[in-house]
Amino acid sequence: MLNSKLQEALNKQVNAELYSSYLYLSMSNYLAQQNLNGAASWMRMQAQEELTHAMKVFDYIHARGGSVTLTAIEQPPAEWNSALDVFEKAYEHEQKVTKMINHLVDLAIAEKDHASHNMLQWFISEQVEEEESIKSIVERLKLISNAPGALLIMDKELGMRAQAK
Ligand code: FEO
Repeated sequence: MLNSKLQEALNKQVNAELYSSYLYLSMSNYLAQQNLNGAASWMRMQAQEELTHAMKVFDYIHARGGSVTLTAIEQPPAEWNSALDVFEKAYEHEQKVTKMINHLVDLAIAEKDHASHNMLQWFISEQVEEEESIKSIVERLKLISNAPGALLIMDKELGMRAQAK
């Protein structure tokens, strides 16, 4: 059985993952408006992947006999300055999520909740991948700078992203 501190913290994480999905969907919308359909598709898949993260925590809370409370999801921003700005903000967001996961692990250790600690290890590894993949896109967008031809080639490449896990 989950203790109330872990239950509350994991419920917040469900909300945070749903917000991540909402944020990336909004980014996908912006990118589509810029005619960067490949990047829009990449971000849409990222939004779907965040839903699977939310459901992983949701299912875990149930598996431990806990109770899920769904709270309001904050409205995400709708406008950015460029594709680079979008991916920089996504990278900053993932760094925030990594901190949240680390705090959850700290709490699981403090509460001697080994099952939660074990479940959270998946998220620890996932955050390394999330940060790495978005950071590499940021770095390549910086290299491209203002060269439209190169941006269109990269957009096509981003559009080839395989289906979300
Ligand atoms: Fe669910 Fe991108 O962290």
